[in-house]
Amino acid sequence: MNNPRKENEVLLKVDNFSLDLVTENGNLPVIQDISFQIHQGEFLALVGESGCGKSVCSLALTKLLPSNLAKYKSGSILFQEEDIIQMDASEIQNLRGNKISYVFQEPFSSLNPLKKIKDQIIESFLIHKMGTKEEAIHKAEILLEKVGITDISQRLNSYPNHMSGGMLQRISIAMALITDPILLIADEPTSAIDVTIQAQLIQLLMEMKKQFSLSVLFISHDIALVSHMADRIAVMYAGQIVEIGKIDEVIDSPKHPYTQALLNSYPSSDDINKELEVIPGIVPSPLEYPIGCHFAERCKHKMDVCISRKPKSRHITETHSALCHLLEAG
Ligand SMILES: Nc1ncnc2c1ncn2[C@@H]1O[C@H](COP(=O)(O)OP(=O)(O)OP(=O)(O)O)[C@@H](O)[C@H]1O
Ligand SMILES: [Mg+2]
Repeated sequence: MNNPRKENEVLLKVDNFSLDLVTENGNLPVIQDISFQIHQGEFLALVGESGCGKSVCSLALTKLLPSNLAKYKSGSILFQEEDIIQMDASEIQNLRGNKISYVFQEPFSSLNPLKKIKDQIIESFLIHKMGTKEEAIHKAEILLEKVGITDISQRLNSYPNHMSGGMLQRISIAMALITDPILLIADEPTSAIDVTIQAQLIQLLMEMKKQFSLSVLFISHDIALVSHMADRIAVMYAGQIVEIGKIDEVIDSPKHPYTQALLNSYPSSDDINKELEVIPGIVPSPLEYPIGCHFAERCKHKMDVCISRKPKSRHITETHSALCHLLEAG
């Protein structure tokens, strides 16, 4: 069992973190000065359109990006008060797949087509020397049952290509849980799966969170989807976190025009006559991030200052903040 879990304790603390991707076209400032925390047992959703930097951010948290690609520029990433950026390879290895596990969007990409499910699911348990092979298989069987897999012994001896995407995603979740992680990072884990299975998987993640007292960082482009399950929400736009707060604060009284536009672009089950809004334009490339507010060109409240100067993060409540000149003006 990993460390004892205390509710409300800050587990992950990201402070003023910036990262460039080093490419042939130059350094891309993909993550710019982001700060957020995840508490013990909390479900934090990170949302934003495609290309905003959600995946790069989640991979950077445990140095999963190739070292020649990722340039950590400033800030800190503290996990249980230890700075991940300063950790060496063996310390990171001990963290990853053990205390922090991932579930990715496409289950096929995280499973080896040439290895039986059994060997893949028990791998990190054995790597982290958590017990014998028999104990690992026993734990895998328990977890597979929890994630709703039937015919377990047959499934354990199958190869990934014999299974549906929904079933593989359940297996990926079981695989991520086998080491009793403290934090589960799920990057669009349901977007490659059809809608009915999607709802089941989300339900499953919620149950796992409760049962194992897991903290979850759940990445999605769908703000409507996460509004039903997250405790808090962080909205990412063009490399920055533009708004963060408790779910009710952000969903019921969004302060950033981007959050407002995102919410207006999704249908609402409470208001079936709601007129959906299209956000004009596209997310800029990191090579073209503006000097001022990154969202200014698409914002219907744009002011001169938005073009010339970057906004500063402002608190609306102790737990709710946003990065917008409108808040500075008000
Ligand atoms: N290996 C790479 N080389 C160069 N640029 C990259 C690389 N990976 C990501 N990027 C760029 O970094 C930015 C952030 O990408 P990222 O994949 O994190 O976005 P995302 O928010 O996860 O999008 P999506 O919702 O489509 O998954 C994008 O502009 C992307 O083009
Ligand atoms: Mg992504």
